[in-house]
Amino acid sequence: MNSIYRSLQIQFYFVLCLMLAASYFTFKFSKEIVAAKTNIHSHSRLITLMYEARTQPYSKKISYELQKSRAYSLNPTRALHISNFIQAYNSSNRNILEKRYQELLDYENEYVNLNETIIESKSDQIFAIVFGALLLQILNIFLYLRAMQKQMLSPIEHLTQKINDFMSGSYSYRFTTAPDNEIGNLERSFRLMAEEVIKNMEELQALDQAKSEFMNIVSHELRTPMTSIKGSLGLIASGKMGDLSDKVKKLIGIAEIESNRLIRLINDFLDLAKIEAKNYSLDRSWVPLEKILLSSVESLKGLQEKANVNIQILGYPKVEVNVDADKIQQVLVNLLSNAMKFTTEHGSVFIQADIFENKVYIRIKDQGPGISEENQQKIFQKFRQASSPDRPLVKGTGLGLSIAKALVEAHEGKISVVSEIGKGSEFYFTIPEYREEIKGKETIAA
Ligand SMILES: Nc1ncnc2c1ncn2[C@@H]1O[C@H](COP(=O)(O)OP(=O)(O)OP(=O)(O)O)[C@@H](O)[C@H]1O
Ligand SMILES: [Mg+2]
Repeated sequence: MNSIYRSLQIQFYFVLCLMLAASYFTFKFSKEIVAAKTNIHSHSRLITLMYEARTQPYSKKISYELQKSRAYSLNPTRALHISNFIQAYNSSNRNILEKRYQELLDYENEYVNLNETIIESKSDQIFAIVFGALLLQILNIFLYLRAMQKQMLSPIEHLTQKINDFMSGSYSYRFTTAPDNEIGNLERSFRLMAEEVIKNMEELQALDQAKSEFMNIVSHELRTPMTSIKGSLGLIASGKMGDLSDKVKKLIGIAEIESNRLIRLINDFLDLAKIEAKNYSLDRSWVPLEKILLSSVESLKGLQEKANVNIQILGYPKVEVNVDADKIQQVLVNLLSNAMKFTTEHGSVFIQADIFENKVYIRIKDQGPGISEENQQKIFQKFRQASSPDRPLVKGTGLGLSIAKALVEAHEGKISVVSEIGKGSEFYFTIPEYREEIKGKETIAA
């Protein structure tokens, strides 16, 4: 049911009744005030006539005016007093006129007092009604807002919290009973949606798991024959099995390159499968950052020559990092080889490390084509490749960055990229555990 609409309707009728009641009484009392004011006015006119009747010679006009005053007087006692005064005036008996004058004057004084009291009390009552209605309305608004807060805002906040939990992956099924209104309906719909999404996600995860296991088995099964194919090709290429014609040598060379690529791909698969299954442990130790940077660059000498790209280390702090050096080197090598793949011949790739917010930041900057914002999100996922520029070296599986991400995260670090199309890319990752390296072998904790 539309309960919010219903409560608004109730509000509307309450305000309408309040306004009608207040208007009715204000109108009624205003009418009484106007009547009392008219009476006071007629009293002033009568007093003037009485004074003229007493002090001036008899006049028909005054007698007529006095009769008019009596006719307009709705109060019978007052009308009687005026009639007596008119009779005395018409009889031209001064003594009686004086007596009636005094009687009428006494009565008029009372009469005017009475009307003044009416005006005063009715004005007070109007003020009380307006003020009371206002106060009631304020109280009503306050209570309504409190009820709305309880009925709507709190459940909305509660639901927002649930949605945030859901978005951050910490969603629990613990729901309070949803209220029977629009917010409750929203909460129930969200719960159904969340359960459906979670169910689908679990199914997808199970499928992904099955696929990973399958890939793992296939990779293992492929590695052994590939290694022996590689060995055989190496043996044939060395000429130990007999001389080869140039044509055959060339073909064997291609087969060797491709079998190396296949073995690399299989190793990447196995690495990723191990990382995903958390089936590996980090062999951490304190290693100078310098050593990791230099040996990573060293291991890329071959590719560097092929790509004709220069690698420059711009600077790094003298620190030791608590890492699995092989794994961090694997990350660096992937980032550097990516940077080199996308940098044109004679271009440069820069490495810079520094300490920022109590973490070691390692940045790899290239002069390549850059990566669009949309692709920046995707490239850290498995098998996602943003673009394939027309360069022979740009051959890969799209696994490198997802392996790098998993390895950096295993070290409690973060990996990301800052890039703009046409302006190159800067990949960076962090290592949180470091300590100062001081001369000799002594060190102090950071
Ligand atoms: N420095 C870079 N400049 C431009 N694009 C890049 C850069 N580094 C990575 N990319 C994009 O991200 C994609 C994914 O990179 P990733 O290292 O995961 O895979 P790969 O290099 O294609 O293959 P692999 O590393 O597994 O051999 C790349 O294919 C490329 O499209
Ligand atoms: Mg790569």
